[in-house]
Amino acid sequence: MAGTTKGPAGDGPRRGFRSAELGWPELHRIPRPPHRLPLLGDVLGAHGSTPVQDTLRYARQLGPIFRRRAFGKEFVFVWGAGLVAELADEARFAKHVGLGVANLRPVAGDGLFTAYNHEPNWQLAHDVLAPGFSREAMAGYHRTMLDVAQRLTARWDRAQADGRAVDVPGDMTRLTLETIARTGFGHDFGSFERSRPHPFVTAMVGTLSHAQRLNTVPAPLAPWLLRRASRRNAADIACLNRTVDDLIRARRTAPGQGDLLDRMLETAHPVTGERLSPENVRRQVITFLVAGHETTSGALSFALHHLSRQPEVAARARAEVDRVWGDTAEPAYEQVARLRYVRRVLDETLRLWPTAPAFAREAREDTVLAGAHPMRRGAWALVLTPMLHRDPEVWGPDAERFDPGRFDAAAVRSRPPHTFKPFGTGARACIGRQFALHEATLVLGLLLRRYELRPDPGYRLRVTERLTLMPEGLRLHLDRRTAGATPPPLEPAARDGGSAPRCPVRGAGD
Ligand code: HEM
Repeated sequence: MAGTTKGPAGDGPRRGFRSAELGWPELHRIPRPPHRLPLLGDVLGAHGSTPVQDTLRYARQLGPIFRRRAFGKEFVFVWGAGLVAELADEARFAKHVGLGVANLRPVAGDGLFTAYNHEPNWQLAHDVLAPGFSREAMAGYHRTMLDVAQRLTARWDRAQADGRAVDVPGDMTRLTLETIARTGFGHDFGSFERSRPHPFVTAMVGTLSHAQRLNTVPAPLAPWLLRRASRRNAADIACLNRTVDDLIRARRTAPGQGDLLDRMLETAHPVTGERLSPENVRRQVITFLVAGHETTSGALSFALHHLSRQPEVAARARAEVDRVWGDTAEPAYEQVARLRYVRRVLDETLRLWPTAPAFAREAREDTVLAGAHPMRRGAWALVLTPMLHRDPEVWGPDAERFDPGRFDAAAVRSRPPHTFKPFGTGARACIGRQFALHEATLVLGLLLRRYELRPDPGYRLRVTERLTLMPEGLRLHLDRRTAGATPPPLEPAARDGGSAPRCPVRGAGD
């Protein structure tokens, strides 16, 4: 199949080595934790439900490249900025579909996120769907994003009037799911009218958690240890499939307005004339519904946590919103990109909490990493983004401190490339980046303009993991703002410019 853009891998299939011994001939040079248990591996002090946070602890002890063994498999992790810059070189490395991502293949198949580099449907879908993320397309989504955000503020107004705290991750998930469902697929999940998450969300969280759990259990024992969990996972996948099939069926009878689903169903490849198969459309719809909301929801939640804890940052962001949006009842598309400081708050949030916390890279040919670590073709490493974003050589000794000033234009220019990677890298980087940033900036702007955020004084940030990261149990108290505060002078940059039900749709469990 010919494509209009360069493919991520170019030629034939790659099979990544399941364990690092085969792909890294000089593995012994890479540090590992000192207390390795027979059979179990490097699991001392680890908690099965927080694999990323466990690995971050090892990273701090062992340095910019290290390895960890768990249940018979050895993995190489990389976070030093120089090493990551090498792995980002598309001529030598490509995306590796491994670990958690490969575990999602039963759900998302050769959809855009989970496709192997050699699968022809990656290039086909990428070329057909990329125009759905152009600037013009974003401007078209703006109105719907605004409508969904206003449903959030209506909900928060009610909570505020009743003196109730708001459930931040729950409400951000409602918001981002509705946004991608309506902009991309013309579908209304009714998230704001439900007291519990939509069954699609419950099934999605189930499959993501299951994919993560599969990595923490020895493969030969998984069929026994996870028998019940696997049955539940099958029911969750069936729920996702049914929801999506219903959505596609509805579109066949009522035409859409040129959204992502129309593209998937109607648009032929500009060069080859090929179309996505019905099975692939199903995979893509699930991919976009999941990838299009879970990570943005986490990013917004972490951002609101930091804004509530740092009143001076919130005040500066709010002052910018007041200045740039003035009395406009509803900000126009162009007014969102002008919220430069709010955008820096988001960047700084994604630095500390990249909500998709790792991505894997594999060698296209035999190569040597940093002149010291030989890798065979197909050998791979996991880039630990939260540690890359804390590398003291790039971010300084106070890298844990939340400071949006790190994203001032001059500070960004002074850093080497490939040091900030919340959206992955290269041909397989996030296609939804601009979508996420527009949506999140708009929503933060609207919330800052309307409310003062008060944290629960007893709350300490806890991070829950289900392949993605999310603050756990974060609740905020709201005060409605009174209009009329005089904004401070313009800065130069601004001048220019509970347990939810399982899927009820037609008998879950099949
Ligand atoms: C803050 C929000 C988001 C973050 C942090 C994020 C992060 C990422 C990362 C790190 C990757 C690369 C994964 C890898 O290399 O294995 C990726 C890929 C992808 N993302 Fe996002 N994402 C976000 C929002 C979105 C949105 C809103 C959409 C859709 C509307 C989306 C759709 C996708 C898809 C389809 C891919 C696969 C692209 C490909 O392989 O061609 N993401 N994302």
